[in-house]
Amino acid sequence: MARPRIALIGAGQIGGTLAHLAALKELGDVVLFDIAEGTPEGKALDIAESGPSARFDAHLKGTQDYADIAGADVCIVTAGVPRKPGMSRDDLLGINLKVMKSVGEGIAANAPDAFVICITNPLDAMVWALQKFSGLPANKVCGMAGVLDSARFRHFLSLEFGVSMRDVSAFVLGGHGDTMVPSVRYSTVAGIPLPDLIEMGWTTQDRLDAILQRTRDGGAEIVGLLKTGSAFYAPATAAIEMAEAYLKDQKRVLPCAAHCAGEFGVKGMYVGVPSVIGEGGIERIVEIRLNKEEQAMFDKSVDAVKGLVDACKGIDGSLA
Ligand code: APR
Repeated sequence: MARPRIALIGAGQIGGTLAHLAALKELGDVVLFDIAEGTPEGKALDIAESGPSARFDAHLKGTQDYADIAGADVCIVTAGVPRKPGMSRDDLLGINLKVMKSVGEGIAANAPDAFVICITNPLDAMVWALQKFSGLPANKVCGMAGVLDSARFRHFLSLEFGVSMRDVSAFVLGGHGDTMVPSVRYSTVAGIPLPDLIEMGWTTQDRLDAILQRTRDGGAEIVGLLKTGSAFYAPATAAIEMAEAYLKDQKRVLPCAAHCAGEFGVKGMYVGVPSVIGEGGIERIVEIRLNKEEQAMFDKSVDAVKGLVDACKGIDGSLA
């Protein structure tokens, strides 16, 4: 049987890491597309040359021609510009919206059956625009943010409790920005919810609040340290987890920027919600019951996303 085809649109820091991970995990053959001449070709060749030592079987190709992504099963989009220190994700809106238009058209013309995972920021607005520009079914286009934000939350919790990250489960909902909503009640260590762990004396409310804030600021913390770009190892790993769930029909329950058609009170927008990923793409949105306080935080986050979507409509009239 032919190997699945994975197209990576954008061969920068995240794109290169995605290619490396996809090859190491033998998820399929990889095509790296980028407008920067030489970059996708160089990264594809470099990773292919690691194959004999790493012992993977995968073909890698770099290209500037959208025709080369023909028949892709999965497209992961990182094309655009990342943040620099002092910038918010929202500052990228104008530039990256134009990029989403060309990427959406390229995917529609060459890989209309693909499952598309968008990573480009500001994520919730860019994935919305990408779906509109591409015209692909909404359940086949999603955004990667929640898996990354939850991974950051899980990492900080595992450090706090001194337990394996594998035993920490956590959900972050809402938009991928300062208003994201790390869910305390639904985050657990081996099934024990965080409020119980406070009662058990494993941590305090103050310490947990500091972890919640560090999670919200997780992207900015890395930007501040790197100074020349934003995070790439963890974002790429999170997107690969989603791609694998689709390619292997794993029915994973992962927080994704998914198109909501009334779920959680959101209509016609993308926002981070728990979703089942399998061969049908986003197969189901898991509508957990939020309490009053959580719903208020979620609504605030949705409002922030709505502001960005409206700004996109203002910039590009075809989206209105
Ligand atoms: N089509 C294809 N590729 C493009 C286009 C375009 N129209 N415009 C820019 N690119 C490419 C750049 O040439 C570059 O190689 O996108 C790549 C982006 O790579 P980096 O600058 O290294 O950015 P990266 O860290 O990978 O982040 C990409 O993901 O997390 C988000 O905020 C981040 O929006 C940013 C994106």
